[in-house]
Amino acid sequence: MSRDSGVGLFRESPSRGTVLIRAPVCWKRDCLAMDRRQFLTESAAVAASTTLPFSVFAQESMITREIPSTGERLPVIGLGAADIFIKMPPEGRELPKAVLQAMVDQGGRVLDTPAFFRPDVPVVGEILSEMGLQEELFLTGKITVNGKDAGIEHLERTVANLNKRPMDLLLIHNMRTLQEHWATLKDWKAAGRVRYIGVSLTRNSDYVELDKFMKAERPDFIMTGYSIHHPLAAETTLPLAADLGIAVLIVEAFKATEDGGIFPIVAGKSLPSWASEYGIESWAQYALKFVLSNPAVTGVVTETRRVRHAIDNMRGGYGRLPDQATRRRMSDYLLSI
Ligand SMILES: NC(=O)c1ccc[n+]([C@@H]2O[C@H](COP(=O)([O-])OP(=O)(O)OC[C@H]3O[C@@H](n4cnc5c(N)ncnc54)[C@H](OP(=O)(O)O)[C@@H]3O)[C@@H](O)[C@H]2O)c1
Repeated sequence: MSRDSGVGLFRESPSRGTVLIRAPVCWKRDCLAMDRRQFLTESAAVAASTTLPFSVFAQESMITREIPSTGERLPVIGLGAADIFIKMPPEGRELPKAVLQAMVDQGGRVLDTPAFFRPDVPVVGEILSEMGLQEELFLTGKITVNGKDAGIEHLERTVANLNKRPMDLLLIHNMRTLQEHWATLKDWKAAGRVRYIGVSLTRNSDYVELDKFMKAERPDFIMTGYSIHHPLAAETTLPLAADLGIAVLIVEAFKATEDGGIFPIVAGKSLPSWASEYGIESWAQYALKFVLSNPAVTGVVTETRRVRHAIDNMRGGYGRLPDQATRRRMSDYLLSI
């Protein structure tokens, strides 16, 4: 039998005692400011009423990390803007809804929403409204057009469609027409229309401009690509973000070649036996835990149109993270395949 204790949904398991099967409702707006101690105190009250050791309970929540500019905590794995959130898929609206629900059920909260420049607006807003999830989720949007007026129109379309006020995070996609858009985002933040602002940069051969921008403007967030095969961001940008107190959202965590991810490379290959010491059950979790174990990383958004992959990816945000020696071992092992 399941019960919702107010800090999560629990089930009695004959072999494991009381097991948390839905993460605590910390993604609710009134819980956003809850700090780790408060959360653990409340969780402990539930744990104390069970036979389950507290350490086991603690492992059953997704890891959260702090946004340095406010201290608000976010669960570390979220969803990206897969095609099912752009155009209604042939499978129907139940598919994007099920993928979103899978994230929420596993304790995820961050949704990176698609661009809003096309004549047909993405279906994500409609899906969010039907599910009533706007307030629970941490929604990011991006300006993906050039020029001040076009950028403002783009933001207005984004907010109208997502129906979230204030928006959680707005980014300038690939730092395009930076000066104009940055002034707009600062105005929007000052007016209370968005809580956090920043820039994204991927597919980049160097990070000089991004590093310069971070030092000069101290954005709340950056979003960039980082994976075992593409570790360039970890050289200067991630340590700088940590030093300056800038939150980092990672994309392309599975990227291997220019056009593809790790999955064709590892198809049919077993995980190394030591991966289980870190609760790694799949190659996706292997890639995600490598990224998450960089201490500068606040979270990762992954793109999928499959419920089972969404669950797999969210589980990468649970349990133990690799230490520095293991990170090197992970990188060497994957790159040798
Ligand atoms: N500059 C920017 O701002 C920027 C740039 C790139 C991306 N992004 C954002 O980041 C999000 C992520 O995009 P990404 O390019 O980084 O993609 P990604 O999440 O690294 O990889 C997506 C690919 O991996 C597959 N996949 C996902 N989970 C899997 C699993 N557990 N097992 C096996 N295959 C799995 C997906 O296929 P299935 O659908 O079959 O699962 C898809 O083909 C985007 O949606 C977007 O929101 C932003």
